[in-house]
Amino acid sequence: MNNCTFIIMGATGDLAKRKLIPAIYNLIVKNKINKCAIVGVARSEQKSKALLNLSKPFIKRKEKSVLNKLEKAFHYISIDFNDFSEYKKIVHTLDEVEKKQGLSGNRLFYLATLPEQFDSITKHLSKSNLTKTKGWSRVVYEKPFGNDLKSAKKINKCIQRVFKEDQVYRVDHYLSKEIVENIVFIRFANTVFEPLWNRKYVDNVQIVLSEKLGVEKRGNFYDKTGALRDVVQNHLLQLLALTAMEEPERLSADNIRDEKARILKKVKTKDVLLGQYEQYTKESNVEKNSRTETFAALHLEINNTRWKGVPFFLKTGKKLEKNQVSILIQFKRPKCLLDPCPEATNRLEIRIQPDLGFAIELNAKSPGESKTMPVKMNFCHSCLFAANTPSAYETVLQAVINGDQSRFVRNDEIEYQWKAIDRIKSKKHNVHTYKQGSDGPKALEKFTKQHNMRWNV
Ligand SMILES: NC(=O)c1ccc[n+]([C@@H]2O[C@H](COP(=O)([O-])OP(=O)(O)OC[C@H]3O[C@@H](n4cnc5c(N)ncnc54)[C@H](OP(=O)(O)O)[C@@H]3O)[C@@H](O)[C@H]2O)c1
Repeated sequence: MNNCTFIIMGATGDLAKRKLIPAIYNLIVKNKINKCAIVGVARSEQKSKALLNLSKPFIKRKEKSVLNKLEKAFHYISIDFNDFSEYKKIVHTLDEVEKKQGLSGNRLFYLATLPEQFDSITKHLSKSNLTKTKGWSRVVYEKPFGNDLKSAKKINKCIQRVFKEDQVYRVDHYLSKEIVENIVFIRFANTVFEPLWNRKYVDNVQIVLSEKLGVEKRGNFYDKTGALRDVVQNHLLQLLALTAMEEPERLSADNIRDEKARILKKVKTKDVLLGQYEQYTKESNVEKNSRTETFAALHLEINNTRWKGVPFFLKTGKKLEKNQVSILIQFKRPKCLLDPCPEATNRLEIRIQPDLGFAIELNAKSPGESKTMPVKMNFCHSCLFAANTPSAYETVLQAVINGDQSRFVRNDEIEYQWKAIDRIKSKKHNVHTYKQGSDGPKALEKFTKQHNMRWNV
């Protein structure tokens, strides 16, 4: 069975507290790891126990014996990531705890900190020989991976100098959501969809990530980032790549990532609409005259034989009327043999949030009438499996322990994603104001009309 040492760089942060520690707890409860040590590293002075206590409210179904195990396994060290001389504290702690707990030297380094720290931590981990161990050593990089193509290339170069690509795990936690993994299963474990999955039968594809929340306490980060960099560059483009990729030779990490990279390379932007919610500039830590976009609607095309001419519409925004993450495959209208012709067309909707599942809409006969009506065949994943569904971060950690890179983004994919965003950012776009709780700026109506489509929200 697996055993390893988790080294969380950024252990006092929000991600470690809310997601990573609870995910490790769940792996212990489910016996996915039998022995582990957790070494938290950050700048603040903290006591291990006090720091661990901050995570407890985020741990569900607490069991006393497992909490005790977690407490025994947890150690905290305070260092400045930029000061190489302090890394010897990590070396000593790891040697000590691995020996004491009889661990085999498998090390999972999780960089739960800002991308500005990635270069420095990468170099120092390597130079201090922390990644040279008798077990495996793998390094996980949180999103965002840089803030444009240039910075992402710089981080990739720094990593490539010291680590092999098979040691490197770039996180996009959307890829570890159960229903997102299901996209591959829907497509390749069934014969009914693949023959239709192309320009001959698909009218358009819509990928939506809308949130009711605003920027909350993240004003400082968000104002420098905006919707395009925060979610389009990563989650939305990865969902697009999974939906549009060709059938991989095998479902191996490299084959899947080869196919996704081919799609990302071919993405062309046809139309862009940006927006900002009213009162955004009154949020704390946001510039008073900020033009940062909190909304984006995009029309993209994939220039290959399968998809040429099929619009891929992406939409995301904050302070919108609904919380929704979904992918819609809208099929073309059938030849009309009936009178009246069916109004609805077939649709496959993959729901990622808030409820998980997928549904296909078909036309059936309306009882007692000679006309059609749309009917829905629904698979509700949340209804059947909610309690057993692992959290995305549990899946992330489990995959790293298993050495499975299929849920992680390769260097070339990241760079194509940034290229697409940099191209949009290099052009000047109006940023339209929109009402909080609406479906976006007024200009969205024109966008929708122009593209002869209807959003699935
Ligand atoms: N929070 C989430 O749910 C979430 C989700 C997805 C992605 N992410 C990404 O994950 C990363 C971390 O997010 P977060 O929300 O946890 O950020 P955060 O709360 O600001 O935490 C940053 C961590 O890095 C440490 N740190 C920063 N500079 C340091 C230095 N020079 N030396 C030592 N420690 C240093 C901080 O330590 P001190 O506080 O002790 O100084 C803190 O532990 C970000 O890139 C974020 O975008 C977060």
